[in-house]
Amino acid sequence: MNRFEGKVALITGSSQGIGAACALRLAKEGADVILNGRDLDERGEKVLDEVKALGRRAVFIEADVSKAESVTRLINDGAEAFGQLDILVNNAGVEKNHNFWEVTEEDYDFVMDTNLKGVFFGIQAFVKYCMQAKRPGIIINMSSVHEEIVFPHFAAYCVSKGGLKMLTRNLATELAPLNIRINNVAPGAIVTPINQKLLETPELLENVLKNIPVRRMGKPEDVAGVVAFLASDDAGYVTGSTYFVDGGLTYHYEEQ
Ligand code: BGC
Repeated sequence: MNRFEGKVALITGSSQGIGAACALRLAKEGADVILNGRDLDERGEKVLDEVKALGRRAVFIEADVSKAESVTRLINDGAEAFGQLDILVNNAGVEKNHNFWEVTEEDYDFVMDTNLKGVFFGIQAFVKYCMQAKRPGIIINMSSVHEEIVFPHFAAYCVSKGGLKMLTRNLATELAPLNIRINNVAPGAIVTPINQKLLETPELLENVLKNIPVRRMGKPEDVAGVVAFLASDDAGYVTGSTYFVDGGLTYHYEEQ
């Protein structure tokens, strides 16, 4: 299937994990891709090579998305790289595990600036580009099951993802007249570097699996498949929604 032939997608935080899987999935279906990370290292090089091996064009733009000015530059340079930009996947995200009463202003800013402020201003730059280029646009935000359910010791993370939920709802209405669709994908527990500690600690992993009806962690590719759907014309009537990719975790309940 070449659903993205002739399209260009920019994926933030795409050196690894879910972002890399999204880049590869969109490229497999025909997209040229703009990759991003704070620095280009061997992980980013690998994704670049993999995309190119699929016969697609790829560039890597270094940018720290937690700063409005640098995420704006990323979008503008991304739009210039191949002369157009069709799909923006706001994937980059961070989390910090702290007791609420120990969270510093620096911790709070790190999480909120990356997960929410950067997405806000990245979308703003993309919308300005679409308006000026008179092109439609597709936005997908990597939210989390924690836009909906609690996660003790991760208060700032939950606030950032709750913010993303509302941002998407609000912008779906405001951007619809511009022919821009926006949706969230809410992964549950996925095998990615953000969950390294969990994956290395059998007791923690066992506890998490008890909460997942399908009894397995998700794969980055499980998430990328839903991102590809939302980025495609198959989802042409979908905007302002959140798609959970969580093996049933969010609405899980059982007795005993
Ligand atoms: C978090 C993970 C967590 C998962 C399920 C994700 O949003 O990044 O740390 O394991 O949600 O709770």
